[in-house]
Amino acid sequence: MQDPKRYTITAALPYTNGPVHIGHLAGVYVPADIYARYLRLNGKDVAFVCGSDEHGVPITLKAKAEGITPQAVVDKYHEIIKKSFQEFGITFDNYSRTTAKVHHETAGEFFKDLYEHGKFIEETSAQLYDEEADQFLADRFIVGTCPKCGFEESYGDQCENCGTSHNAQDLINPKSVITGNKPSLRETKHWYLPLNEYESFLDEWILKGHKKDWKANVLGQVKSWVDDGLKPRAVTRDLDWGIPVPVKGAEGKVLYVWFDAPIGYISSTKEWAERTGKDWEPYWKDEGTNLIHFIGKDNIVFHCIIFPAMLKAQGSYILPENVPANEFLNLEGNKISTSRNWAVWLHEYLEEFPEKQDVLRYVLTANAPETKDNDFTWKDFQARNNNELVAIFGNFINRVVVLTDKYYEGSVPEPNSFTEVDNKTLDLLAKYPDIISSSIDRYRFREALSELMNLARLGNKYLADEEPWKKIKTDAERVKTIMFVALQIATGLSVLCEPFLPFTSIKLKGILNSTGFENLNWKSISTEKTLLPANHQINKAELLFAKIEDAEIQTQIDKLEASKKSQVTVELTPQKETINFDDFSKLDIRIGTILEAEKIPKTKKLLKLKVDVGIDTRTIVSGIAESFDPANIIGQKVSVLVNLAPRKLRGVESQGMILMSDTTEGKLSFIEPDADSVANGEKVS
Ligand code: MF3
Ligand code: ZN
Repeated sequence: MQDPKRYTITAALPYTNGPVHIGHLAGVYVPADIYARYLRLNGKDVAFVCGSDEHGVPITLKAKAEGITPQAVVDKYHEIIKKSFQEFGITFDNYSRTTAKVHHETAGEFFKDLYEHGKFIEETSAQLYDEEADQFLADRFIVGTCPKCGFEESYGDQCENCGTSHNAQDLINPKSVITGNKPSLRETKHWYLPLNEYESFLDEWILKGHKKDWKANVLGQVKSWVDDGLKPRAVTRDLDWGIPVPVKGAEGKVLYVWFDAPIGYISSTKEWAERTGKDWEPYWKDEGTNLIHFIGKDNIVFHCIIFPAMLKAQGSYILPENVPANEFLNLEGNKISTSRNWAVWLHEYLEEFPEKQDVLRYVLTANAPETKDNDFTWKDFQARNNNELVAIFGNFINRVVVLTDKYYEGSVPEPNSFTEVDNKTLDLLAKYPDIISSSIDRYRFREALSELMNLARLGNKYLADEEPWKKIKTDAERVKTIMFVALQIATGLSVLCEPFLPFTSIKLKGILNSTGFENLNWKSISTEKTLLPANHQINKAELLFAKIEDAEIQTQIDKLEASKKSQVTVELTPQKETINFDDFSKLDIRIGTILEAEKIPKTKKLLKLKVDVGIDTRTIVSGIAESFDPANIIGQKVSVLVNLAPRKLRGVESQGMILMSDTTEGKLSFIEPDADSVANGEKVS
């Protein structure tokens, strides 16, 4: 295959309904940045683009929850996200946003073009509608049971459990997220992309054409969708937040967020080209361009099926060369969640660990979820910093620089003749660019990073074997050669670490006083005989990595624990169906006091209680034995539903129900009046 003329690298546009966390970084932004930096270091022509994904229902929901406008929501998070990416050293050539004018125009025109060329099906059909909220329900406005895997909280457009993308009408038992109501059906007109017509194209292009070089997880998902049969997919919505559908008869409708967002890659490229005086078109239309999408696994269907079908329908665009999607990163054993605040937020990390961008980049790459879900733990973060970055990489550089300073006042010594070991070591160094490239070219970034560390290990071993600190007393001439060789390795590291550890690279080049050495790039590490010449003056040692103490890690663990506790409103279930006042007034709820409590033998959960509810004293069976010791709840004030039909549980007739609140972690607590003077038998209404 010919070398590509240029690369267009995209990183999934983050939703602007919250800041960016380590899961996003590990899955998308760190690998994409490594790749872009690596290509640039190899002299390639690269457009690395991203931007904020600012439409879609999650943003509307967030605005509702906070009582502000969607625009205010996206303005807030766009700034946070953009700034944190920049400080973290993600080298986007352009970071745009989908509320930008250029994007509204580009996406609108894209739609219009397909529309005018008859690429859509126009259809009026009955869609889910919330009568009370007076709006259509699509995407994240609706939850229900996934028709594929049976997950009960699937969204209208995608199931978070199995990743399937579907139409809202396919959900079983759909419920409105806004009111909890069962939706009714209402007629409305929409435009559909007939994905079914692209099946054979997708089959040829991905499943036959890219069998070998695409990741197995990506091919597997694509194959399963194509095998299941693709259906026409609505690309418009009845919503008021989004890009207006630019055709007659579509007033009040907007583009589906997953139609507009990927076009954001194109708009961002346009914005970049405009700013830098370039032509954007070859980056999207020239066959000599490699288009690579970096995404997480929940985005596979959109980047491997829907967006390619859109590009194909339009006809003048290239298709992605690869879509190296990653699996998910968990945090301390649990799924990362924005809504539950179970995350390490990038903007907070940057404040709490100033100048430690590379430590996080390192840990997220070394533990990247490339082929399976992985777990981030703070202990592992600490261990990798202390045992790898400090003990291997940092230690090698420190020894080289300190000894050069001590023996030669920082001047690179003139080597004498090389021994076999020296030659072998230098030969190995020269092989590293290719070794690391071969991993990066296959999107195996963790493997690439571990090879980089092997180069540092090689340096350490060389010093440990040659022992310049001993030989300096007996054979000072030999030590000159040893230090020369070690300095070449250090210089090689300063260049090859750049894609992974960019801040360290800058620092190390500063120490070696090689900043701006034009002969130092990826290839020259193989081809140049000498990387750092004799008599070159280097600077004083500086610590590249500092040990992270237990206390710092404990602070982070405590912070996570605290966020767990403060999250009383974890993943709220949607409101139930509306009832009228008569329904409510049928409930007779009274204040009571527990007089007796005993465990029902051979059950795990059940307690038999005697409760004084004012009107009488009755027996109630309650499933609270796992949360309360019978001895501790005598005298406890409770709320009791007294007119619940009696029923027998384990042979005991229960004459009512104690009302409890229940956290998602299963911790129960009593609903009790906050004043002691409330007497038994008083009504709760
Ligand atoms: N905002 C989406 C997410 O976070 C990703 C959009 S990628 C794009 O899952 F292709 F649509 F831009
Ligand atoms: Zn599912």
